[in-house]
Amino acid sequence: MRVGILISGRGSNMLALADAVREGRAPGAQVALVLSDKPQAAGLERASERGIETAVVERRGLTREGHEGEVVRRLRASGVELVCLAGYMRLLSPCFLDEFRGRVLNIHPSLLPAFPGLDAQRQAVEHGVRFSGCTVHFVDETLDGGPIITQRVVHVSDSDTPDTLAARILREEHAAYPEALALVCSGRYEVLGRRVVRS
Ligand code: GRF
Repeated sequence: MRVGILISGRGSNMLALADAVREGRAPGAQVALVLSDKPQAAGLERASERGIETAVVERRGLTREGHEGEVVRRLRASGVELVCLAGYMRLLSPCFLDEFRGRVLNIHPSLLPAFPGLDAQRQAVEHGVRFSGCTVHFVDETLDGGPIITQRVVHVSDSDTPDTLAARILREEHAAYPEALALVCSGRYEVLGRRVVRS
């Protein structure tokens, strides 16, 4: 399974996926391309250092459809079959999702369906929840709303700030995303409505 990873920033989840693939923790997966919409994304250099092919497709001057079309074209040129969003800060339209139906994964730093959207860790602290965590899910047309593949729980303490909570959740993200990738590459699951059932 040739995997394309879309990033916009630091790329720590991208590295966690790449490391897992290299160490054989996601059998059958191969990182074919790391693509960013931002040329300054730190993750690009970190991917190149590991010998992974990278690409930049900037939004500037393009319509949303034009930009997505270009991203799809670049992913296809690298033979990508499965797309992992890893801190990619753009919503994908149905056109993109049609190209990779059921083959787009995302990671979100909360226990969905709680706290979708931006600043999930701040939302969790401000809401006063005692537990938060991360979710890896299939992407559909809704915001952070597709079928859930895996979740990991993190305790929220009284002294937590959005930043301390984010750091603790991030450690769990780095374990959860490779685990979800391994499951998807194994093909040992079925999506029944909203539920991802292991088979
Ligand atoms: C992570 O917290 C991820 O859950 C969210 O964006 C952040 C990306 O971090 N979608 P990184 O670029 O993978 O380090």
